[in-house]
Amino acid sequence: MNLPDLNKVALAMVTPGKGLLAADESSGTIKKRFDDIKVVSTEETRRDYREMLFRSNEAMAQCISGVILYDETIWQNAADGTPLIRIIEQSGAIPGIKVDEGTQALPGCPGELVTVGLDKLAERLKKYYQQGARFAKWRAVIDISGHGIPSMTAIHVNAHALARYAALCQAAQIVPIVEPEVLMDGDHDIDRCYAVTQRVLNKTFQELRVQRVALEGMILKPNMVIAGKKSPKQASIAEVAEKTIRLLKACVPAAVPGIAFLSGGQSDQDATAHLDAMNRIGGLPWPLSFSYGRALQAAPQKAWSGKAENVAAGQQAFAHRARMNSLASKGEWNAGLEQMRAA
Ligand code: 13P
Repeated sequence: MNLPDLNKVALAMVTPGKGLLAADESSGTIKKRFDDIKVVSTEETRRDYREMLFRSNEAMAQCISGVILYDETIWQNAADGTPLIRIIEQSGAIPGIKVDEGTQALPGCPGELVTVGLDKLAERLKKYYQQGARFAKWRAVIDISGHGIPSMTAIHVNAHALARYAALCQAAQIVPIVEPEVLMDGDHDIDRCYAVTQRVLNKTFQELRVQRVALEGMILKPNMVIAGKKSPKQASIAEVAEKTIRLLKACVPAAVPGIAFLSGGQSDQDATAHLDAMNRIGGLPWPLSFSYGRALQAAPQKAWSGKAENVAAGQQAFAHRARMNSLASKGEWNAGLEQMRAA
């Protein structure tokens, strides 16, 4: 492992004013997104859609530090034969790869899941590095919507797997994005999200230490501290920002080069407003940026709707959200800017 180089890549992933595009939906998830816009999900439509995003030149060059790809995409060529990964590199963004293989039921813990994909991961990482990936992602999911969950078991096994993955990535000279996601599903209030996320982050960093992961060579991708989607008691933007920062300061060592949030089902504008509010508070040991999937892609998906004649509109919608989140990563966004459409 060459830690200075890992650290350089990690810092580039959280360059001020830039964040990550999570375009790593599995085939099942992208099918769901395409169903919503009435597009049939085929290898070609998935390629066309992602090519549209990666060829959004200005947004990619100015606002996107890296792109998380799904296995299919990292081997795919654009319509003109250029590898998609080259298009990303040419824009100045770093290609990354989702390496977990989804979730399975956790035995003995009804309703809970463990993320899988460690078998043969070392070999897969070598191939992804050769193909150009310089960072990876593994997502653990912690559901808190049911009675009596999460169990200590679910938190432990998921943290253990995250640390195993992270150690393997660093050995392969790939920066691990460590993503322990406490889901927004359910009617819990913000303080319950705070308490569970605290347990999850503490356990995750404990496992990272036990497994000798170099914190300087990773990126944390956490959920924000937020009320459940069905909670009657939604928190204000200021409260989400204040509690998320308080929690991160308590749990995340300053050696971590950066934090890039997931959007997790927040509305596009909420995801931006929360990030902005946190960066306005400032005074933090790490840059806070975005690694959004839905909050960057919902608008371009709708604008595109699978039609070649809508590519420019799709790119414009993507550029707008990328620009809004870029501003939020510097604490320079305001709601009035949402009316401006990117040129
Ligand atoms: P969302 O921003 O849609 O939550 O996706 C980010 C991600 O990569 C989840 O693993």
